[in-house]
Amino acid sequence: MHFQLTEEQQMIRQAARDFAQTELKPGVIERDEHQKFPAEQIKKLGELGFLGLMVSPEYGGAGMDAVSYVLAMEELSKVDASASVVVSVNNSLVCYGLEKYGTEEQKQKYLVPLATGQVIGAFCLSEPEAGSDATSQHTTAIDMGDYYLLNGTKNWITNGNSASTYLVMAQTDVSKGSHGVNALIVEKGMEGFTVGPKENKMGIRGSDTHSLMFQDVKVPKANRIGEDGFGFKFAMQTLEGGRIGIAAQALGIASGAYELALQYSKERKTFGKPIADHQIIQFKLADMATQIEAARLLCLKAAWLKDNHQSYGRAGAMAKLFASETAMQVTTEAVQIHGGYGFVKEYHVERLMRDAKITQIYEGTSEIQRIVISRDILK
Ligand code: CAA
Ligand code: FAD
Repeated sequence: MHFQLTEEQQMIRQAARDFAQTELKPGVIERDEHQKFPAEQIKKLGELGFLGLMVSPEYGGAGMDAVSYVLAMEELSKVDASASVVVSVNNSLVCYGLEKYGTEEQKQKYLVPLATGQVIGAFCLSEPEAGSDATSQHTTAIDMGDYYLLNGTKNWITNGNSASTYLVMAQTDVSKGSHGVNALIVEKGMEGFTVGPKENKMGIRGSDTHSLMFQDVKVPKANRIGEDGFGFKFAMQTLEGGRIGIAAQALGIASGAYELALQYSKERKTFGKPIADHQIIQFKLADMATQIEAARLLCLKAAWLKDNHQSYGRAGAMAKLFASETAMQVTTEAVQIHGGYGFVKEYHVERLMRDAKITQIYEGTSEIQRIVISRDILK
């Protein structure tokens, strides 16, 4: 076992770190305040290859491994989790699903523009009545011969308005339960497809979360991913990798807040000395650093398993569970270390604390991660 990153992995981490400081940091407070989607920054990330980081160069991707993806996600998320969620969804939910399970025609038509950042994608599983209980799909895709007739509503879709390509799960045969679900590629602009208003959120306010409505949308049969009835397994298998991305996002939010708190603790003086000289602050920093290191190791382990073609569902769920709980605890302590200054926007930590919360909810809540982990342990 060795913990040394390759030169390439170190280069990716440095590139993401530089991008976060020079391109994401300026304006991050304003984008959060005004719920502004980081469109220019996402375009540049696409040009640099970050939107198709793990896609093979054959399809326009950067051909990097999952470890590099974790490193990049951590660095981007230290500064702007609203931007990093776009990177995560595009890479691990949309591009991965298309590259692994799509036909050659689907890859040429949809994956190449997604991997090169010409367009971005969305992954549409959740519904008003089906979040954690994802098998209860109400959206229907009726088989009409050459096409599916798509009807229903998807909720909380990241990149909901900014995306061009949507992977939509829908029920074709109710009698087959989760085996009757299909995953369909839906294009923006298809007749009968409308996007609802942007959600006004507590955190990741720059990201673009919308509900989507489908009314008699005709989706060609050629846009189905995999065999008839593969849609639910497609979603679950894709989410296994997605959870590594969100775990790395949570890790980045935690380490971003920790770095700010560490710096501040050396500068702020009370009772004649820097607050970092008070033992209780030192112990807080020690706990934060330890939790972050453990979260980082879990993320890298899950990514390593994926890179080495071993089962990574449990490891990804553990990484997401632990890193998201860490993000919430560490950001809360970072605000505490900043005192009153932590409660105002210009010190960044209050935003990181608000952004941390979503990592315990999306791509499977912490309760759902515990279900996934315990089922795997007990099977
Ligand atoms: N890989 C392959 N197949 C899987 C699987 C996996 N990881 N997990 C489940 N399945 C299969 C099961 O084997 C089963 O098939 P069989 O009948 O052939 O055995 C079928 O799927 C149904 O599974 P379960 O019986 O386990 O279903 P369940 O109703 O008990 O629910 C669950 C399972 C794990 C709780 C699942 O519903 C779940 O993951 N819920 C959370 C949903 C979620 O994570 N949503 C995220 C949306 S995307 C998002 O959030 C993006 C973002 O924010 C940025
Ligand atoms: P519910 O499922 O109603 O859960 C409510 C509470 O009950 C939670 O605490 C949950 O953990 C708990 N609970 C539920 N079932 C159990 C159980 N069996 N045992 C114990 N506790 C349980 N979805 C997408 O498909 N694509 C996206 O791009 C996407 N982006 C999102 C972006 C944002 C900002 C948000 C807020 C959500 C996004 N989601 C997306 C949806 C997200 O995945 C769901 O919100 C999440 O899976 C939880 O579903 P729910 O909100 O319906 O909560």
